[in-house]
Amino acid sequence: MIVLLVERIRFFDTTLRDGEQTPGVSLSPDKKLKIATKLSDIGVHVIEVGSAAASEGERQSIRIIADAGLPAEICTYVRAVRQDIDYAADFGADSVHLVVPVSDLHIEKKLRKTREEIARMAVEAVEYAKSRGLLVELSGEDASRADQSFVRQVFSTGVEAGADRLCFCDTVGFLTPERTREIIPPLRFAPLSIHCHDDFGFALANTVTALLAGASCAHATVNGLGERAGNTPFEELVLNLEVLYGINTGIKKEEIYSLATLVSRLTGVPLPTNKAIVGEMAFTHESGVHAHGVLRDASTYEPIRPEIVGRKRRIMLGKHSGSASIAAALAEREYHASETQLKEIVRRIKEIGDEGKRVTDADLLAIADTVLNLECKPVLSLNQFTVVSGSNVIPTASVILKVKGQEITGASTGTGPVDAAIEALRKSVADVADIRLEEYHVDAITGGTDALVEVTVKLSKDGEIITSRGARTDIIMASVEAVIAGINRLLREKE
Ligand code: KIV
Ligand code: ZN
Repeated sequence: MIVLLVERIRFFDTTLRDGEQTPGVSLSPDKKLKIATKLSDIGVHVIEVGSAAASEGERQSIRIIADAGLPAEICTYVRAVRQDIDYAADFGADSVHLVVPVSDLHIEKKLRKTREEIARMAVEAVEYAKSRGLLVELSGEDASRADQSFVRQVFSTGVEAGADRLCFCDTVGFLTPERTREIIPPLRFAPLSIHCHDDFGFALANTVTALLAGASCAHATVNGLGERAGNTPFEELVLNLEVLYGINTGIKKEEIYSLATLVSRLTGVPLPTNKAIVGEMAFTHESGVHAHGVLRDASTYEPIRPEIVGRKRRIMLGKHSGSASIAAALAEREYHASETQLKEIVRRIKEIGDEGKRVTDADLLAIADTVLNLECKPVLSLNQFTVVSGSNVIPTASVILKVKGQEITGASTGTGPVDAAIEALRKSVADVADIRLEEYHVDAITGGTDALVEVTVKLSKDGEIITSRGARTDIIMASVEAVIAGINRLLREKE
């Protein structure tokens, strides 16, 4: 059993500050407000909305978000500089994330200062921020590469000066879970936050370890956005704590997916398809064994139900799919296929998968439409089909059809191979019925020159019009299939 040293973990979201530092990301004040509102609704405690000193737009964001009256605490990043603190107070922030470097590397190389100067600057800045009525979270930048006795000194004098909270920054993702477990306990002079980066893929593990070792607040960003490899991903952290450690976070988990997609849309940073919890594939199954297992009991191949984070399970079809998942996908769309029809649909789906392509929902529907149509006792069927086309050749098609046990043939030229094929079909049944092509439409369902194409035709006979479809990777065959399906329907209806 996990015993936390604090009653409830707090979440400090830095999507709008560290997340916005993702190369190429820049959020306008109204986009920031949308994200902040969602973060507050979902239950985040502190929202770092930006950096007060960075620009006028950033200060406007602080003003707009602070004025929105959200339940979450509105915080802004500041340096140990009076002007930054004034901006924070003047534009309505509740708190400041006051950051001072604590590693010698940062102190000497970046700021060209001494430890003593930094310690003094920290104390003065804390005192000033308190005098401006702000809550203060005092952060040690690059703390994981710093002399820990200096980190303790800055933190303890900072708390004496009035800092309300402290934050340990693993600025370049240098911590390991083992080191985190050692480092955190001696730093609890005040409620302590942990701020991790994912340069070595340990941000989440280090954050969880810090929380178990006594930190009370986790800094995180939605979708793990942030400098370089990013920060601790909020959605993974919440589910990790809840599911693997049994800790009630109080976060509205069912809103997690809509938060992730909102942030992805507004920042323009796509979600990696295989990303934990929120990636497109996180609750998608294709393999026959997995999909079959999931259809019987979802927990066989799903650690949590997708609904928990506001998502739906998807069974993706491809060469690994079995008939159980294809039948389930059809049933979900209210398609009722006989055993023979199902076999044919499975065969066609595997054929597409074998060609190295994804089978989308639209593909499935197009194939099912075609197969279900064809299967209703055809009046005529295709025995043979030839088409000749090329440069300096008049496109010519010939067909041999079987109509009620008898073979009939037809041939035609056309403006192209598709036109020739359709004309040949029309002519071959001319003795039986006058079929006219009213409309022809083609859609590439998936991308690429080898994509599955769906051909839709409108055919008429004696004023009666029907629509039918064909779906193949070959446009001529899809057209032939659509026309034969249509003629069958028109002839069947006559009978
Ligand atoms: O990673 C870091 O050290 C930071 C600080 C600026 C707080 O983001
Ligand atoms: Zn950071």
